[in-house]
Amino acid sequence: MSSKLTPAELYNNLQEKIARWDEAYHGHDEPEVSDAEYDHARLELSRLERLHPELKNQNNPSERVGAKPNPAFGKVKHRAPMLSLGNVFAEDEFEQFVSRAGNFLGLSPEDTENLCFVAEPKIDGLSINLTYENGQFTAGTTRGDGLVGEDVTNNIRTLKTLPLHLGKNAPEFIEIRGEVFMEKSRFFELNAEQEKRGEKVFANPRNAAAGSLRQLDSNITAKRPLGLFVYGLGHSSHPVAKTHSEFLDQLREWGFDVNPLSQRIDHARDIPAYVEKLARERSGLDYDIDGIVFKINDISLQNRLGFVGRAPRWATAWKFPAEQAITHLKDIEIQVGRTGALTPVAHLEPVNVGGVIVSRATLHNEDEINRLDVRVGDLVRLQRAGDVIPQILSVISPDDTNELPSRGSKFIFPDHCPVCGAYAERIQGEAVRRCTGGLTCEAQTVERLIHFVSRNAFDIDGLGQRSIRAFYDLGFIKQPGDIFRLSNHKEELVKLEGWGPQSVDNLLSAIEERRTIPLSRFIYGLGIRRIGERNAALLARHYGSFENWLNAMRALNNDEKEEYETLSAIMGIGPAIADELTAFFHEPHNQTVIDDLASQLTIEDASSPIASGPEGHKLAGETLVFTGSLTTMSRSEAKAIAERLGAQVTETVSKKTSFVILGEKAGSKAKKAQELGIRTISEDEWIKLANSETQ
Ligand code: IVH
Repeated sequence: MSSKLTPAELYNNLQEKIARWDEAYHGHDEPEVSDAEYDHARLELSRLERLHPELKNQNNPSERVGAKPNPAFGKVKHRAPMLSLGNVFAEDEFEQFVSRAGNFLGLSPEDTENLCFVAEPKIDGLSINLTYENGQFTAGTTRGDGLVGEDVTNNIRTLKTLPLHLGKNAPEFIEIRGEVFMEKSRFFELNAEQEKRGEKVFANPRNAAAGSLRQLDSNITAKRPLGLFVYGLGHSSHPVAKTHSEFLDQLREWGFDVNPLSQRIDHARDIPAYVEKLARERSGLDYDIDGIVFKINDISLQNRLGFVGRAPRWATAWKFPAEQAITHLKDIEIQVGRTGALTPVAHLEPVNVGGVIVSRATLHNEDEINRLDVRVGDLVRLQRAGDVIPQILSVISPDDTNELPSRGSKFIFPDHCPVCGAYAERIQGEAVRRCTGGLTCEAQTVERLIHFVSRNAFDIDGLGQRSIRAFYDLGFIKQPGDIFRLSNHKEELVKLEGWGPQSVDNLLSAIEERRTIPLSRFIYGLGIRRIGERNAALLARHYGSFENWLNAMRALNNDEKEEYETLSAIMGIGPAIADELTAFFHEPHNQTVIDDLASQLTIEDASSPIASGPEGHKLAGETLVFTGSLTTMSRSEAKAIAERLGAQVTETVSKKTSFVILGEKAGSKAKKAQELGIRTISEDEWIKLANSETQ
């Protein structure tokens, strides 16, 4: 890979690469490379400019605005995570959301119907966390990955509508959440000015807001017309209000802008009318909104409802219908994923869909291609809804256009892997065709490695898709354990194009940092089918330590029935996942990969979930089974409470069960408990136990 290119060629290549990455990042919100790789390319470009000033030209991206998150911004952990929202698109889906909440709270249908909500336009901007200590603004951070954001305090301070001091009622510590955005009219003005000055124009107001906030020089941010609407609470040392509408009043009193269209809605049944009204007004607003957020007004109910995954049970976003556009299909490419799934991807003539340039869309699978009868060369209708990958809705028939009715030939879905050539099988009842090459298939191996280093797994800064592919081709990294031996190739690495001693050092130290890893990230990083973040966390919590988990998995591999049953009984795991784990551990290569990793890593025990709840509660570590119907709360709420206190809830009674809570009409599980001599308690006793102090 060592280069024989002239400096001018190198410079042009780098410029093109950066422009493409910028476009992917700003135009599509789909970064193609890791931050470190991007920063490295930019540094390299500046270095070339210093050495060869004559190369500098107008398109120079290093002089453009709107750069990627920069290491110059410090990283800050949010006290309370910044989560996302579930979506609904229609009335029946909203009704389901409300009845799920009602069921969780054990409300009657009538009380469910009378739940009171607050509606807020969903601003399409950039979410921000504002920290105030003793009433003084002390920090502003971007959302980042939800747990850790970038410190943009100095930039956010320049926003004219940000109160720097809260007045009366300010808690000692409070995090306030909101959205930074740019008004459409100001966005067009800004773009016109940028164009006049020969500077970068932004694809949409959201990108303009993001680019303006992420300036290294806060004087530039100060000149940008940024607005701020606040709508949420993170961590607070004291409760602020009893209802969300009172909370919004308090925010207004402190001097914040709260969106004037926010409104309390006393009955769920009035919500569709509000949605219709706002959908009509949407185009007349001077800021982009992509839906409406509905939040249950009563904060004590919010607290009881809590979260499922990363989304609250007490709020949802009703999204407006997706944006559509028409374009030509240029090609269909079959991509091979980490688990061997063959996914058809449509390559399109680039087209603007609601402000974003789209050139790729998913075609899901073989059946979808047949259903649409889509062929290369066709004119297709495509849709983009929120953050979802754009999809093709239909083929525009030649009768509807002036085009000649000649079409390409029918697309034949391959029954062999396009990468390794192995047979691609489609199991009956499944929509997906999978390459059977396993780890002999290069595509699967590389995708697995990419998954291994990804953000929610090992999160290795500087090892993005491109570097993994390059290091794989060079033979430096063939399996995950090789990553931790990459320092053996240090001398070769520094000689590679695009790498230098500094960036190699950075990469190697980023790798060193990950030699210690939490068990859940480790399990997730292995990329086992159906083991996403949530299931990895469930497994980690259940088994506690790497050794326990590995022993159990080995037992599984020896077809030990009891282990299989224990595993299937973990709430949320079930037999399909147990089968996937069994299959994974049946493959000797996978065991070798794990042993190799284990010999190099320190895998941290899973901390009990009560680490964040009451310390050492009586129920911590116990295994409970609920049976029969509870009168004071739903089964889901009971389970959520038990888990908050550090207990595990399983479906079946076994020797490992600590006790069984008997609701009304308890049946076979009560009998099983008796047979096994396991303690049973009543609902009242359960409530006392759950409410008891720590011990
Ligand atoms: S509430 C736990 N309210 O939408 C509650 N979010 O899809 C989380 N957003 O990251 C957010 N307007 O950036 C909430 N009125 C509003 C909002 C809003 C815009 C954004 C926010 C969040 C994303 C969630």
